[in-house]
Amino acid sequence: MSQWRRSEFTGNGIAAGVRPDGREPEEVQQWLHQRLVRQLDPAVISDSSGRKSREAIESAARALLSVDAPQIIGETKEEIIAAVVDEIAGYGPIDPLVRDPQISEIMVNAPDLVYFERDGRLYESPLQFRDAAHVMRVVERILAPLGRRIDEASPMVDARLPDGSRVNVIIPPLAPDSPILTIRKFRTDRYGLDDLITIGTLNDETVAFLRACITARINVLISGGTGTGKTTLLNALSACLGAGERIVTIEDPLELQLRQRHVVRLEARPPGIEGRGEVTQRDLFRNALRMRPDRIIVGEVRGGEAFDMMQAMNTGHEGSMSTLHANSPRDALARIENMVLVAGYDIPISAIREQIASAIHLVVQIARMPDGARRVTHITEIAGMEGPTVTTQDIYRYVITGSMGAGPVAGYFETTGVRPRFADRLQAFGFDLHTETFARGRRF
Ligand SMILES: Nc1ncnc2c1ncn2[C@@H]1O[C@H](COP(=O)(O)OP(=O)(O)OP(=O)(O)O)[C@@H](O)[C@H]1O
Ligand SMILES: [Mg+2]
Repeated sequence: MSQWRRSEFTGNGIAAGVRPDGREPEEVQQWLHQRLVRQLDPAVISDSSGRKSREAIESAARALLSVDAPQIIGETKEEIIAAVVDEIAGYGPIDPLVRDPQISEIMVNAPDLVYFERDGRLYESPLQFRDAAHVMRVVERILAPLGRRIDEASPMVDARLPDGSRVNVIIPPLAPDSPILTIRKFRTDRYGLDDLITIGTLNDETVAFLRACITARINVLISGGTGTGKTTLLNALSACLGAGERIVTIEDPLELQLRQRHVVRLEARPPGIEGRGEVTQRDLFRNALRMRPDRIIVGEVRGGEAFDMMQAMNTGHEGSMSTLHANSPRDALARIENMVLVAGYDIPISAIREQIASAIHLVVQIARMPDGARRVTHITEIAGMEGPTVTTQDIYRYVITGSMGAGPVAGYFETTGVRPRFADRLQAFGFDLHTETFARGRRF
């Protein structure tokens, strides 16, 4: 059995039955925890998300403390009770972070090193686990109700919690220092396009442009680094999809929240415990083609489905949207090329590039600024092929003018002088097009 699974209470010398008189608060807390776990109805413990069970655990804890540890009073008593309730019904020490709606991500790097993200910035939290086994116990409690397991045989897990939050866990020996837990909380207050304008990720004109692109069934790829807001932007842009369209989404795991009524959601499935039963995004994509989709949206393209997507986009399935992990529009294309290559078809690279050049029309690049804000930095057209290379041309760019240091980043969007090949199509779909619209160096 792995060292991480060993109970953290072995060997601390406190038996659950013995009164904890004269002990340190920390020891009383461990004693109380053990007593409660033995005493409480397992149903109360396993239904740990409910408010009722928190209350039940709290009142049982209060009763036990007053009888068996009457010396513990006041603030110390409240702290012990809160910690034990978090431990049994919640996420242990990081429970306050999980419950704080201002916090978007929680990262446990080591038992004594917890970070969180708020308003786009990372902070170190004073909250700590006792040791690696303690982290593991919380991880196991998160995963067990999901029917997922983590151990040396499968030391990485990516899972979705019932509330939509995402959890990733990786343990030794892959992460040699400690089990690492990353939680991305599900936001119910999703950003809409108006919000993205208000916080400066986009502005009125770039939104109007993208709206027309989507209505005109331009194939759009949203590209950016990790956590830069790609999925959020895709979600917001999905508001531009027509109500009369049949939309099929493919995700791994589910994240999108489309507002339309006619949406079919498909979610990939990881292999089961015996390594069987995996359903990939690629399998789902092929199935989706048989479901009479008007649009197929792949939450994030990362594998063999890229090949099928390119083919589908080239054979009449237009108006697709997807996100992809890349640091520039050019890099995005290189990644797609790589994914197609890895899918293992015996196709010359020139043919793959031609497919990509004709399938993808537009790349929207998003980035995280040093001040934590997210901004669309490039809106780039795929212009075609020049010899063996796929050519790209920026249509809009964000130019940074000030403060790459600690303060807020200042800058403006500008046009580059490139008129997209599909400009007339955009006008037909309501984009206000003047002779000046795509003139070089217009700032706004
Ligand atoms: N425009 C934005 N402004 C500020 N914060 C944002 C913005 N978009 C997203 N965020 C925040 O950034 C975090 C990551 O967002 P999101 O999941 O959309 O990013 P992502 O690029 O898709 O990440 P991943 O690389 O994991 O797929 C979330 O906590 C989200 O609330
Ligand atoms: Mg994403």
